[in-house]
Amino acid sequence: MKNDLEELKNDFLKLVKEVGDRAQLEELKNEFLGRKGKMKGLMKDMASLANEERKVIGAFANEIKESIESVFGEHEERFAAEEESTRAEREWVDISEPGRFEGAGHLHPVSQAIGEITDIFARVGFTAVRAPEIDWDYYAFESLNLPKDHPARDDWETFFVDAPEGKKGKIVLTPHTSNSQVRTMETQEPPIRMINIGRCYRRQIDITHVPMFHQFEGLMIDKGVSVTHLKGVLDYFAKTYFGPDRRTRLRPHHFRFTEPSFEVDISCGACGGEEHENCRVCKAGWLELGGAGMVHPNVIKAGGLDPDVYSGFAFGWGVERTLMMRSGIKIGDIRTLYKNDLRFVKQF
Ligand code: DAH
Repeated sequence: MKNDLEELKNDFLKLVKEVGDRAQLEELKNEFLGRKGKMKGLMKDMASLANEERKVIGAFANEIKESIESVFGEHEERFAAEEESTRAEREWVDISEPGRFEGAGHLHPVSQAIGEITDIFARVGFTAVRAPEIDWDYYAFESLNLPKDHPARDDWETFFVDAPEGKKGKIVLTPHTSNSQVRTMETQEPPIRMINIGRCYRRQIDITHVPMFHQFEGLMIDKGVSVTHLKGVLDYFAKTYFGPDRRTRLRPHHFRFTEPSFEVDISCGACGGEEHENCRVCKAGWLELGGAGMVHPNVIKAGGLDPDVYSGFAFGWGVERTLMMRSGIKIGDIRTLYKNDLRFVKQF
């Protein structure tokens, strides 16, 4: 019996050396020490032994069992260590390696233009204001000398909000930034020099129009403000934003909220306003920027000021249009600005 136990141990020691992984090791252990294993088989035979002898053999069997278990334990540790080291090898990271730079991105070209335009006017004392982008009809039209049902309102293809009328009329998505004029006069004392850049909404979409766009509105109100001041400010802006060679000119036009009213043109950057016959960019050396004029007395009155004491000028242009006209930037279709195509946006 003792010999059988010795042999069992030796068999185990021999076989354990051939084991290649943890699963095989487990299997081998089962084969020897498991519930239906070889050791159990031998133990059954012990039942037939005399008491004395059974004690001795029992103790010996325990020794054998323990030594098999300890060898098993050693091998198990060896496999665990091996697994650990291959995992460490596989998952190794160099934490001292510098990270990969993914690029910081930048502001959208329209946001860049808004920032630049605000800065340019700030340098000559125009303070940035914000007027609501959803406003009463009164500020968008009526106070601007555009009474209810006036046909000129058709020029602004306005979105009306489906909401009850208030004392100041219906609610509109502002179709231009001119709602800031009376709002500013209501809250500030002259001298006023303000610039309002905001979103505008109109029912229109084609290669030169988007239903949501931006305008910047300038307003200066003081005693003795004249067209000369307007011309000076516009020239300053044109030279700063477009380049030192650019000039502006005022062309007679009509707006209900200015008298006189002008269309502002800027000399063409491609031909310099000289060789206009052959220029493909401009009409006769000039490009149209936007509207301007001397604030109508009725608008000054609506702002709570006396038009016999105060005068002023105003102008309002599209940001997208102005950005697209800057030399070197040619955007064929204004809608491209809002397509969220990074290949386009990254060029700015
Ligand atoms: N609000 C006008 C528009 O959207 C543009 C404009 C013209 C604004 C003349 C002005 C101005 O301030 O004086 O078409």
